[in-house]
Amino acid sequence: MNTIINKDKKIAIIGCGYWGTIITKTLIELGLKNIFIYDSSAKNLHALKKKYNTVKIIKNYSKILFDKDLTNLFFATPPSMNYSLVKQAIINNKIIFLEKPGVNKSSDLNKLIKLNKKFNSRVMFGYVYCFSDHIKYIKKIISKNVLGKLLYINFQRQNLGPIRNDVDVTYDLTSHDLSIILFLFGKLPKKISHIKYPILKKNLCDISNLHMKLDNTFIDINNNWINPTKIRKINIVGSKKMLSFDEMDLVNPIRIYNKYAKYPKIHEFNKKFFEAKALIYLGKNFSPKIKSSQSLLNEIKYFLKLKKKDRPITDFLFSLKILKFLETI
Ligand SMILES: NC(=O)c1ccc[n+]([C@@H]2O[C@H](COP(=O)([O-])OP(=O)(O)OC[C@H]3O[C@@H](n4cnc5c(N)ncnc54)[C@H](O)[C@@H]3O)[C@@H](O)[C@H]2O)c1
Repeated sequence: MNTIINKDKKIAIIGCGYWGTIITKTLIELGLKNIFIYDSSAKNLHALKKKYNTVKIIKNYSKILFDKDLTNLFFATPPSMNYSLVKQAIINNKIIFLEKPGVNKSSDLNKLIKLNKKFNSRVMFGYVYCFSDHIKYIKKIISKNVLGKLLYINFQRQNLGPIRNDVDVTYDLTSHDLSIILFLFGKLPKKISHIKYPILKKNLCDISNLHMKLDNTFIDINNNWINPTKIRKINIVGSKKMLSFDEMDLVNPIRIYNKYAKYPKIHEFNKKFFEAKALIYLGKNFSPKIKSSQSLLNEIKYFLKLKKKDRPITDFLFSLKILKFLETI
């Protein structure tokens, strides 16, 4: 997909909070000249305008919908608000970028899918890790069998906030980790057990520990939005090597450890000892130099270059699989 982005394209950002501001910044960096912003909160709308004064404020959502030249819409609004906003955008044939997890019910997503069969709008979901050069590298390493058999994967995504009040920590954070699993393996694991704690508010969990199995690989996802420090880690334990991805390490985010643990085969261990002890192999580690650019920049470029016939990687089906999984845990 090497098309050049039309910098004069008219674009609107709906939702000018934390993530809408970052999307706006990225669009400006990409050189887009006609950026319009809309938010139901006048305070947030004006705060974004103050930050980037070249953007233009639109005070009425229907103005966006009825402007035929305003083709591409970015939704960075809370999932509970998205169904009705996006429904109208589909009917008006907009090209839609909808931040993860999209909506908060798979039944609503199914209704949007059905509606879109009639209107055939382009819809892509904002699962930013599918556009990360580091995650793409990990996918390559796994497909080349560098790590050997995958025995265990652990995802840790923790921080203090943002704390949502319309969805729990699984819709907000676990959805990211599930998108990485879906991107790496083309399928989602089966749940073994799930422990979640509602701490700040009844019926909305703040901490989630999800235990799963994908074929022969055990997978845990630990999410927490009331953690004092920011942790973004993936550890992969293979039968030949181990890999760690620490997003917070800006110098060497990926390390490949030439390490493994295994029990010797029965004929290999010293018969004098009754019990077979696990052997631990410690070899050299290395940190690959990966040419990477910002994942959000990659993602937005991909979206802006989508053609009518293209099916985005993070399409309706991708998002539906994640939402349905979240509803079963
Ligand atoms: N990909 C990522 O890494 C990432 C990171 C953060 C957030 N997000 C996603 O972005 C979305 C927004 O998150 P956020 O952190 O920016 O939230 P936020 O609360 O900071 O911002 C949401 C904005 O939407 C506005 N809004 C609410 N209802 C609206 C409506 N009906 N019409 C117009 N505007 C409305 C609010 O006033 C607010 O300004 C969520 O879906 C979240 O999951 C993604």
